[in-house]
Amino acid sequence: MCGIVGYIGKNSAVDVLIAGLSKLEYRGYDSVGISLFQNNKIVTQKSKGRIDDMVKKIDLTEFKSASTGIGHTRWATHGEPSDINSHPHGTPRITLVHNGIIENYMQVKERMIRKGYTFESETDTEALAKCLDYYYVQKQNPLLAIKKVLEKIRGSYALGMMFSDHPDAIYAVRHDSPLIIGLGEDENFIASDMTALLRYTRRYYLLEHDEIAIVKRNHVIILNVDGEEIHKEVQVADWDEQTAEKGGYPHFMIKEIHEQPEAFMKTLRVRRSGTGFDFSPEKISDEFLKGLNKIHMVACGTAMHSGIIAKYLFERFARINVEVDVASEFRYRNPVLHKDDLVLIISQSGETADSLAALRLAKAQGVKTLAIVNVNGSSIAREADVVLMTHAGIEIAVASTKAYFVQVGLLSALALHMAKVKGVMSQEDYETKVTELLSVEHLIKPLLEQAEHVKFLASQYVNAKNLFFIGRGLDYAVSMEASLKLKEISYVHSEAYPGGELKHGTISLITDDVPVIALTTQSDLLEKTISNVKEVKARGARVLLLKKEDMNVAEDVADDVVNLPSLSDWLMPFTSVIIMQLFAYYSAVLRGCDVDKPRNLAKSVTVE
Ligand code: F6R
Repeated sequence: MCGIVGYIGKNSAVDVLIAGLSKLEYRGYDSVGISLFQNNKIVTQKSKGRIDDMVKKIDLTEFKSASTGIGHTRWATHGEPSDINSHPHGTPRITLVHNGIIENYMQVKERMIRKGYTFESETDTEALAKCLDYYYVQKQNPLLAIKKVLEKIRGSYALGMMFSDHPDAIYAVRHDSPLIIGLGEDENFIASDMTALLRYTRRYYLLEHDEIAIVKRNHVIILNVDGEEIHKEVQVADWDEQTAEKGGYPHFMIKEIHEQPEAFMKTLRVRRSGTGFDFSPEKISDEFLKGLNKIHMVACGTAMHSGIIAKYLFERFARINVEVDVASEFRYRNPVLHKDDLVLIISQSGETADSLAALRLAKAQGVKTLAIVNVNGSSIAREADVVLMTHAGIEIAVASTKAYFVQVGLLSALALHMAKVKGVMSQEDYETKVTELLSVEHLIKPLLEQAEHVKFLASQYVNAKNLFFIGRGLDYAVSMEASLKLKEISYVHSEAYPGGELKHGTISLITDDVPVIALTTQSDLLEKTISNVKEVKARGARVLLLKKEDMNVAEDVADDVVNLPSLSDWLMPFTSVIIMQLFAYYSAVLRGCDVDKPRNLAKSVTVE
């Protein structure tokens, strides 16, 4: 949450900051601001709203000659989105941008007020800025001032800082929130992630916790917590700028939905071996799997929903007990963890604060951790005992689609592999299921070709104010994701319910104004769910039914039907979720919503 960019070099800093920040808007877009060195002075421009709004509102041409600057795009935590609460914050002597939360900011603020500082914003960051100024005045040295501030604050932060007497450098430090140092020719950068910099360079350093970087035009110095200079390995991003563009699609979300077959295969291909999968090169030995007592899948939002699908598959195939937890609950409920348990963290970004905290909790208790992560070098990827990378490529739309799809693909492969290793699935059954799983790649395109039909269906339901999704088993798991997708991008209120649960209270909400989307792809549960469909139809609901094409269902059971390819039940989530992603996408488009940047959200949730 919040995006940071910094530039020092031969070109116009304004241009680099604006271009970089627009790539980071998915991290937050409540307000935007930049600070530059202009005529040996720090100048700051900031405004509520998005980058385009600022560029329209403020004429930046007079700052074009500045070649050093820092910028910020904000996802508001402390204080509403407003000009005053926008970053950068500072004084004539220092300026800084911040991603994260300063937990003890009230204490710091009160102390600074006692020292004579006045405050204009409601942010935690302003307390940090005034504290930095205070120590800079005392120490007359940026590094000593930064170190002093770090002793005084508690929380998560990635900071970009400039000091008026040191126009030849940008200073950066991180603790929990991500930050990288981009390396160019006669220019260097800082950024929350590489997407901001791909136009300029693919080479970068990953800043570790509490390391401080002094970024100059021709070199970068990195100091460890003890203040010693350290030499880091240069990383090279495997994404280029083109992959971070829309490539002819109107939105990133629909582009990413279409990228699912490729991402799926890329993720599974690296684990293919003989007639199955092999995870041993990734430190997952057969002994390791056989020795596990229980799996705790821990994640947030969509990533947590992929864990729910996986629970059904691990339990069904590998006969292991699986619990799925929302990370923000898991970390505070003192979970019972056994030494032979596995805590499996699922995260696209690898930076989600609650998931990271859950991982640390498990590690602190000596429990094995495995992370499924899409971003290489992210905090979760670096801290987990074992990491399985998904290869979804960069996901830019705030609403996650392809990351979820490949998480489910990878978890399915792992569940099958575990079942075989534990001897609870025959070799023949295993090989059949592996082949079935791999065939998913070719089923996606025909489903995507149903887009126009799904768009039409979305137009039929688009005026609903409330909507229910129902399903049983794996269909219920997909319903949760379908409901989240619809809510987050189209702002239509919806809820997902297990088909059998509705009559225990919630059915009182069903009227002819409240449509129901019923997922009925599980053969052994078909009759049960159809009974539930009849219950809601009897209360007036308009019903859209998703079913396998070979399922025999009376024509008058539902008002609208989407037929899905008739695969084995366990593979049906791969098909139904695509239709549901398209349904949410077109609902949002038809409602005129900002599909890729829904209100109040950010892609990478680095605060708890
Ligand atoms: C919804 C969505 C979020 C994320 C959640 C976890 O479309 O994208 O619910 O899934 O914030 O994020 P990661 O996977 O980065 O940990």
